[in-house]
Amino acid sequence: MRNITTGFVIMLFVLLGDQETKAEFIDTDSHSVQLKNEVTFTSGNVSMACLRCMCLFSSSCTPFGCQLVSASKLCGYFYFSSLTWDDCDSPGTDFPSCANDLQCSSLCVQRYVQRYAEIGNCRLNCEGFARVFYGGPSGCENPLTLKVWNRLQELPGCKGVR
Ligand SMILES: *[C@@H]1O[C@H](CO)[C@@H](O)[C@H](O)[C@H]1NC(C)=O
Repeated sequence: MRNITTGFVIMLFVLLGDQETKAEFIDTDSHSVQLKNEVTFTSGNVSMACLRCMCLFSSSCTPFGCQLVSASKLCGYFYFSSLTWDDCDSPGTDFPSCANDLQCSSLCVQRYVQRYAEIGNCRLNCEGFARVFYGGPSGCENPLTLKVWNRLQELPGCKGVR
C-alpha cells in the first residue's frame, strides 16, 4: 500500500467544498441528468446504479479533462489522480485519457474497489465502494467519507443506491 493519503484528503476537500455549486449544476444540466441506463460502465462488483451516482457526484458525469488542485491533478468522469490510476493497474493508453473515457475510468473504479474494499473493512455495497474510492485504502474508517456518501445520495435517483 502506498502513501497516498494526501491526494485523497485533497480530493475529499474538493468534493465537499465544491458541493453546493456541483449539486446546482447537476440539477440544471439536462445532459447529465438524462444519463440513466443508456450509459454503460464497465461491469463488476460496483453496480451500474452506483457507478452512475459516483460519476454524477464526481464530475456531473462529464469528461471535463483535468483540474490541478494543490499538487494533485484530478481528471475525468470519476475525478481521480494518477496514483489511483496506478493502483488500478494503469488501464488504457495514459492517465488523462483513461480518466476521460467512460469505460476505462469505470474499469479503474472497479479494480480499485476490488483491491481495497475488503482489506479496508468496507461494506461491500455502494456505500463502502464509494467511501473507499473517494477516501483511499482506509477511507471506510474515515468519518469524512460518510459526508461524501450522504451528499452523493442527494443526487437524483441516488438515495439508498446499492
Ligand atoms: C465481489 O464479488 C464476489 C462475488 O460475489 C465476492 O466474492 C467478493 O467478495 C466481492 N468483492 C468486493 C470487493 O465486493
